[in-house]
Amino acid sequence: MGDASDVPDVFDPRIYAAGIPHDRFRVLRDQAPVARQEESEVLGWPAGPGFWAVTRHADVVRVLKDSESYSSHLGATQIRDPDPADLPFIRRMMLNQDPPDHGRLRRLVSRAFTPGRIERFAGTARDRARELLGAAFADGGEVDLVRAVTDDYALLNLTDLLGIPASDRGLLHTWTERVIAYQDPDEPPVLDAEGRPVNPRSPAMLAEMFGYAQELAAYKRAHPADDVMSVLAASELADAELEMFFFLLTVAGNDTVRSAAPGGILALAEHPSEQRRLWEGEVSMDTAVDELLRVHPPVLSFRRTAARDTELAGQEIREGDKVVVFHASANHDERVFADPHRLDLGRTPNPHVSFGDGPHVCLGAHFARLQLRVFYEEARAACGGLTLAGPPRRLVSNFINGIKSLPVRPLPEPSAPRS
Ligand code: HEM
Repeated sequence: MGDASDVPDVFDPRIYAAGIPHDRFRVLRDQAPVARQEESEVLGWPAGPGFWAVTRHADVVRVLKDSESYSSHLGATQIRDPDPADLPFIRRMMLNQDPPDHGRLRRLVSRAFTPGRIERFAGTARDRARELLGAAFADGGEVDLVRAVTDDYALLNLTDLLGIPASDRGLLHTWTERVIAYQDPDEPPVLDAEGRPVNPRSPAMLAEMFGYAQELAAYKRAHPADDVMSVLAASELADAELEMFFFLLTVAGNDTVRSAAPGGILALAEHPSEQRRLWEGEVSMDTAVDELLRVHPPVLSFRRTAARDTELAGQEIREGDKVVVFHASANHDERVFADPHRLDLGRTPNPHVSFGDGPHVCLGAHFARLQLRVFYEEARAACGGLTLAGPPRRLVSNFINGIKSLPVRPLPEPSAPRS
C-alpha cells in the first residue's frame, strides 16, 4: 500500500455508528495487516500520536499473548492516551497490569468467580429474561428490544452477581454510561472549567463510584452473602484495589452483555434461515452463542504499548508505540474462518477472540455465555421468531460495539422446544 493516506481509517469512533467497517478491515488484513493510523482530533478530543492497527487473527492473538512485548501497563488499554497525571491511578486496575503483578490480582478475584457461584444465577437470569420478554411482547407489536429488555437484563444480572441492592441499581447505570458512551452525541459531555471534555476514567469522575464501592464493601463485611462483593470485601485486596475492581466489573460486566444480547438478536433477524434453525432446535445453543459473539463482538478493540523494539507481520514496531488489536477484524479473518461473513450457528471450531486471549482473557466469559444462552432460550420460548421493525441505532465508539436501539417485531406462535 502506497502512502499513509491510502490506508483506511478505522480509528474515527463515528465510523462505527454505521456498523463494523468490514470493507476497511478487509483491505487492512490483505494489504497492511499492521497499519499506521492517524489519531486526529475528533469530537472535541485532541489529536493523539497515532498507533498501529493489528487486524489479522494470528497477529491479534500474538499481541494479546505476548505481554512482555505488548504491555497493558505502560499506557493502559484504551486507544486514547490517558492524562499523564492520571496514569498511575489507572494502572492500579487489574486490566492495566502485566504479569507478574497482574497474576496476583487475577488469582484473588478469580476466587469470587467460581463456576458454582455463576451457575446459581442461572435461575434468576431466566426468570428475569422471561419476565422482561413477556412484558415486551405482550401486545405483539413493535418494540425497542434494547430499552424494553436487554439494557435491564444485563444491568440487573450484574447487580445480582455483585450483590448490589435494588435501590442502587440506577447509580450503576449512570456510571457506566459516563464511561462508555462519552464519545456518543446522546451522552452530554462533562466539561472542565475551560470547557474541555473530562476523561471519564479520571479520579475526579470516579470519586462517587469509589465512595459507593467502599460503603458496599463495609456492608458486605457486616452482612456477607453469596455474591462477588462479599468475597472481595473479605479478601486481602487493599481498599484502592477493591475500588478499582468494582469499577472494572461495572464497566466490563455491563456494557459487553448489553451489546452482545441485542447484537445477537440483530444477527438472527438479518439471517432468518439461521434463526429458524435455532428456533427449531436444529443447532446447539452453545455453538450459536459463540457464533453470535463472533459476528457481533461486543468489544471492538483493545490497546497495548510496545515494551521494546519488536516486529509484527514484517512491520517494525518501536518501544513506546501504541499497538491496537481489532477483535472485530480478527473474527472475520478469511485465513481462519471459512466464509467469515456467513452466520453459521453450528460453526465448530470457532476460535473467535471476542473474549480476548492471553493473561487478560475475559474473567466473566462463563457468566456472559450463561446470560446469553438463557436470554436466547427465553426469546425462543416467548415468540415464533423476531423480525426487524426498523434499523438499529449504534453507539459512536471505537471501543464498544454498542446498540442503542433495536426495533423488532415478534412473530406469533411459539414453535420452539423449551429447554
Ligand atoms: C459478552 C460479554 C463479554 C465480552 C465480549 C468481554 C470481553 C472481554 C475482553 C476482550 C477482555 C480482555 C481485555 C484485554 O485484553 O485487555 C475482557 C476482560 C475482562 N472481563 Fe470481560 N467480557 C464480557 C463480559 C464480562 C462479564 C459479564 C464480566 C464480569 C461480570 C467481565 C469481566 C472481565 C474482567 C474482570 C476482565 C479483566 C481480566 C484481566 O484483566 O485479567 N467480562 N473481557
